Amino acid sequence: MNFMTTNRTFTMIKPDAVANGHAGKILDHIIQAGFKVVALKYTQLSNEKAGEFYGIHRERPFFNDLVSFMTSGPIYAAILEKDNAVADFRNIIGATDPQKAEAGTIRNLYAKSIDANAIHGSDSDENAEIEGNFFFGADERF
Ligand code: RTP
Ligand code: MG
Repeated sequence: MNFMTTNRTFTMIKPDAVANGHAGKILDHIIQAGFKVVALKYTQLSNEKAGEFYGIHRERPFFNDLVSFMTSGPIYAAILEKDNAVADFRNIIGATDPQKAEAGTIRNLYAKSIDANAIHGSDSDENAEIEGNFFFGADERF
């Protein structure tokens, strides 16, 4: 019997990566790493939505910069499916600070700074579900 569970994570290709023309290469990197894109949207966050999305960081010193950055241009939001999706995706995106991200990770390849760090990945199954629902209605996710 197979006890492996296929599960999901949520990602955003952030405004820096979209503006720099890296979105296609990043999506390909994700797909080549074994993730299936099960929902995808090109959109731009409002101040209100970005503040809500990153609400957990509201009291942190970088919160205002984070919201300004995340609203500065369009993003791609996506739901991804793979066994062990959340942990495996955090591994392929690399550390928050691209200077510390391992060679070959998406942040190592495409991110310039801890603020403009190219990509988001959910940090737990619970947040993956919340974040996916935040961007995609029932008729947009399968
Ligand atoms: P993300 O949520 O975007 O995938 O990033 P993460 O889990 O790797 O990092 P998190 O702690 O959730 O922080 C969210 C975003 O806030 C910015 N940040 N700046 N200056 C700082 O010390 C600092 N710490 C975090 C980053 O842009 C990070 O992606
Ligand atoms: Mg995070």
